[in-house]
Amino acid sequence: MPGGVTAAKSAGRYNRPKATQKSHDIEFLPAKLMDPFYKYHVFFCLNQRDPDAGRPSCANCNAQAMQEYAKKRVKQLGLAGDGKVRINKAGCLERCELGPVVVVYPEGTWYTYVDEADIDEIVDSHLVNGKIVERLLIDQPVV
Ligand code: FES
Repeated sequence: MPGGVTAAKSAGRYNRPKATQKSHDIEFLPAKLMDPFYKYHVFFCLNQRDPDAGRPSCANCNAQAMQEYAKKRVKQLGLAGDGKVRINKAGCLERCELGPVVVVYPEGTWYTYVDEADIDEIVDSHLVNGKIVERLLIDQPVV
């Protein structure tokens, strides 16, 4: 993405928040800075709990291997990079009982998955073609 915060600062368009401003007050930011840096920013929960923790955790469902697989596949397809796709690790996303979970921003589409075939479908359908994989959604659309 050309420019960004550095260019905006040097052009005097970036107004640093004053210490008295609350962190949730984002109205002072120019609209340009609110554009998503990536077309799709994908977060895999990799949280690990003890087996006797009383709640499930994504890392106990092969999440790390699937995150690494997704990252490798996105890179192989030439989708990785600024303005394109970023695959990241995340801690607990608090949807543990529905996991393993992955969320795709900017729209906030939540998926679950089982294996590499599911990851392939998310990559090919959502990240390549912009089409949601409805069968893997953890939040079903309201009709
Ligand atoms: S452990 Fe993955 S969402 Fe909580």
